[in-house]
Amino acid sequence: MSPQFGDYQYEIYLNGLAGVLPTMPMAFAELEARAASALAPSVLSYVAGGAGDESTQRANAAAFGRWGLVPRMMVGATRRDLSVDLFGLRLPSPLFMAPVGVIGLCAQDGHGDLATARAAARTGVPMVASTLSVDPLEQVAAEFGDTPGFFQLYTPTDRDLAASLVHRAEAAGYKAIVVTLDTWVTGWRPRDLAAGNFPQLRGHCLANYTSDPVFRARLAKSPEEDPQAAVMEWVGVFGNPLTWDDLPWLRSLTDLPIVLKGICHPEDVRRARDGGVDGIYCSNHGGRQANGGLPALDALPGVVEAADGLPVLFDSGVRSGSDVVKALALGATAVGIGRPYAYGLALEGTAGIVHVLRALLAESDLIMAVDGYPTLADLTRESLVRV
Ligand SMILES: Cc1cc2nc3c(=O)[nH]c(=O)nc-3n(C[C@H](O)[C@H](O)[C@H](O)COP(=O)(O)O)c2cc1C
Repeated sequence: MSPQFGDYQYEIYLNGLAGVLPTMPMAFAELEARAASALAPSVLSYVAGGAGDESTQRANAAAFGRWGLVPRMMVGATRRDLSVDLFGLRLPSPLFMAPVGVIGLCAQDGHGDLATARAAARTGVPMVASTLSVDPLEQVAAEFGDTPGFFQLYTPTDRDLAASLVHRAEAAGYKAIVVTLDTWVTGWRPRDLAAGNFPQLRGHCLANYTSDPVFRARLAKSPEEDPQAAVMEWVGVFGNPLTWDDLPWLRSLTDLPIVLKGICHPEDVRRARDGGVDGIYCSNHGGRQANGGLPALDALPGVVEAADGLPVLFDSGVRSGSDVVKALALGATAVGIGRPYAYGLALEGTAGIVHVLRALLAESDLIMAVDGYPTLADLTRESLVRV
């Protein structure tokens, strides 16, 4: 039986009796507002911003409000089980941390990837470590403790470099490779454009490249001697506009489970299945890539149906426990959060992330208790109505 995540509220109330009040916000709006004051302006605009006028980003979050959970009474859901099986791993909850490049910069000490990995170790909530990190993937994995971690691949144009990154992730103990498909080119992001700020061009978060033997072999001088040349080399190899013809090659790189991230159309799900992937990741990148798109949540039911039993990871717009429960009821196997944990990190480092995750899990768990859904299997499409 999994831990009772809702018990976090007793911890908070008991501390309150002793006169100790929480230092972290309880609701997303306050979390976002306080993180906005804590982050450097250039990091804030990169993290909080999205594509175009950010209407897709807002629509992602608003989409949850169009579904209502139906409460069921006299179920006696005194104990809840939120545990899930994913890629043969038993996880205590269906929550995971979505890959956030530049998470490194959100920490006050500039090592947010390590802080996030430590939060994964403390909560059992897996981290999907981004290709774009301040610290190399091996050092991030060393902080996972007993919690499994996944590696997110931005597939470079140099196939040997791609293979090297995947094999390094295997060797470091990552349990799956998440290949992001929607970011071979950066979307139009007015906030970053207005500030003329793209962190990687300033040499940030390239540790997985500068520590890679294949990448280093491409350089005339080492990245330590000539950092600017390394950045320009990175620009040349970063974005690979993959097609379905590349999938057999990707599949051939590893025996680890492969998950394709950014899938929103049932036909793409079927092609991914046919190509032998192990999981589908339904996401629109939190509205950061293409504005004007449908909310990721609205794509989820069609993706789940086409996945036909293959695990479906989901993210984009999850801000509360009720959002988590609704995504699960619509068929997600696991639910990812992005910006909320970056904001927790900005405020209180590892402890800030741990709080954000525990609060999301507590609220999810208590909703399942109150509404009479003791296990994830009890949460189905029938648990929801359109409102
Ligand atoms: C600052 C930032 C950086 C991101 N970097 C990556 C990345 O490196 N790789 C990736 O696949 N997705 C990246 N994403 C997208 C997230 O994985 C996720 O899809 C998105 O944040 C979910 O939406 P949410 O922020 O509304 O929860 C990033 C998101 C943010 C906010």
